Amino acid sequence: MSQDKLRVAVLISGTGSNLKALIDGMLSGALKLDIVTVVSNRKDAAGLKHAKKASIPVNVVSHTEFPDREAHDAAITGILQTADAELVVLAGYMRILGKDFAKQYNGRIINLHPSLLPLYKGLDTYNRVLKAGDSETGASIHFVTAGLDSGAVISQVRMPVLDDDDANSLSNRLGPLEHKLVVATVDLFCQRQVQYQHDKVYYQGRPIQQPLQLQADDTFF
Ligand code: GRF
Repeated sequence: MSQDKLRVAVLISGTGSNLKALIDGMLSGALKLDIVTVVSNRKDAAGLKHAKKASIPVNVVSHTEFPDREAHDAAITGILQTADAELVVLAGYMRILGKDFAKQYNGRIINLHPSLLPLYKGLDTYNRVLKAGDSETGASIHFVTAGLDSGAVISQVRMPVLDDDDANSLSNRLGPLEHKLVVATVDLFCQRQVQYQHDKVYYQGRPIQQPLQLQADDTFF
């Protein structure tokens, strides 16, 4: 890989607040990346406005217009290839991508998930945390593989669960932490400090035994 700005594609389905965090990082110069395309499977995704405002090419690929997952995935792959994306970031992208897609982007596609993986893969994470009575929760960024929310975890951010928390308050408190996590983690890719080999995350050339943990000063330990 060259040492030029990393060419990043971001896939969204909804609000796009994590996309906005990445755009802000790009525009401020904090992140050495070019967001080369934003893809949404929903034409009404509110997050598209952030991309348009920053003049980033937007592609809506509605899954309803394709006969099956493979055809939908192929349309997205075509866009990513044309955009020459080096890294694909799933930021609130609510469609499952097929195993061929995951294979094609092996080691170059990451997903943000609102739980401390491997806990609570899938949906409704906040209510499941509350029901279990957990004392902490958080968010994870992992490499995408064929299994749902199952690839090697790169990084996490943690926060306590308070006595009076409900799903809303957890989501409201986790949101800003997710933004920091996504920016700090994508920055590792921009700095070419993270690789994926044989189902393992390599950080600064060494395999990590535990996900990198984001600290209050936005660095990892
Ligand atoms: C985040 O909570 C993320 O963890 C989950 O979807 C949400 C996306 O939020 N995968 P936004 O669209 O980036 O605001």
